[in-house]
Amino acid sequence: MTTRRGILKLVGGGVVLAALGGAAFYLANGPSDEARTAWREAGAPAEYRRRFLSYALLAPNPHNRQPWLVRLDGEDGLTLFCDLDRRLPETDPFDRQIVLGCGAFLELLSIAAAHEGYAAEITPFPEGDPAPRLDARAVAQVKFVARAAQADPAFAAIGIRRTNRNTYSERDVAADLLAQLDAAGSVHGVMAQTTADAGRVAKLRDITWRGHETESLTYRTMKESIDLMRIGKAEVEQWRDGLVLEGPMMELARMTGMVSHEALLDTKSDAFKMGLDTYRPKAASARAYAWLINDHAGRTSELNAGRAYARLALKAAELGLAIHPWSQALQEFPEMRPLYDEVHALIGDGKRVQMLVRAGYADAVIPAPRRGLAAHILGEGQS
Ligand SMILES: Cc1cc2nc3c(=O)[nH]c(=O)nc-3n(C[C@H](O)[C@H](O)[C@H](O)COP(=O)(O)O)c2cc1C
Repeated sequence: MTTRRGILKLVGGGVVLAALGGAAFYLANGPSDEARTAWREAGAPAEYRRRFLSYALLAPNPHNRQPWLVRLDGEDGLTLFCDLDRRLPETDPFDRQIVLGCGAFLELLSIAAAHEGYAAEITPFPEGDPAPRLDARAVAQVKFVARAAQADPAFAAIGIRRTNRNTYSERDVAADLLAQLDAAGSVHGVMAQTTADAGRVAKLRDITWRGHETESLTYRTMKESIDLMRIGKAEVEQWRDGLVLEGPMMELARMTGMVSHEALLDTKSDAFKMGLDTYRPKAASARAYAWLINDHAGRTSELNAGRAYARLALKAAELGLAIHPWSQALQEFPEMRPLYDEVHALIGDGKRVQMLVRAGYADAVIPAPRRGLAAHILGEGQS
């Protein structure tokens, strides 16, 4: 629901649109194709490790920061590092979620390798466990062994997997599909669980929504997300990461000043209120939830949780299910502590909840931008 002032600004924007030549403006301001080139180029590189990496970089990852840096070692190995400048210190103060994103990257890497018969032998944190935050030490070492793995059916879903933030339709998710998510995500010592039980879903909708509100109303955590919003096509193409606000109407809202980084951060602005108003029904529309728990014994269990999430997300894509991580209540900044405790008491089973995801059916979404392979290879796009 929009406000009167907001409508007036958009009506004003409509006048601007007419003045600019409506159809041409509309066509020119659709989502950026260029920012999504990596999805079309996956599998194209001639060198085999680069080919596997071109799939890995399509992995889900927090705020689409794509923090992966890779050193190619010899002829058959690589080392994965985290780009420490791409962490999320306010919402992810111990870098736990960033490590999950590294785990998802490694899982896609190994599925892509297996597709060509290579086993990816992964050694997590070969130089020890960085704590309480990540440091310059490697996240993982990988050695590829030819003719040592069988193709994995999950490979087919890499290019169609998405995070779907639309409002979900009023269609129940069948129990056998949820059971398939449970099975897919219960790997690497992680347990995936799901529920479509109305009472539990209602409690989880409420907790995830309150988590969203807490993050939005805490200035420094909200600022972290707003700083990573790419508003309009030019910003999306420039950064090819972060959280994108695109399309002709968004371009208009940007041009009229209705949506800007400053406005999105101002709790009194129309843009801020509209942000909450668009997300509230999304939370309310969750039909089912999935979550991942494990013992959280060090960094490797975070990496394993990310690997398990990649599996669950690929299975959801294969089954035609929409999923959307709604992670705020799992975040470890002090203001979130009460909700963190509440969600652990509800679904934690004495373990650590590593991911919490709504699931259901929704209109399809287009792929999120990617920075492309060169941006991840040390000595090429990176130094
Ligand atoms: C550990 C982790 C936490 C995430 N938390 C959220 C979240 O709280 N809200 C959200 O909208 N997306 C969340 N995501 C999804 C990412 O924002 C998404 O993967 C990224 O923007 C890239 O988009 P894609 O998954 O469609 O490729 C999370 C992803 C991961 C791996």
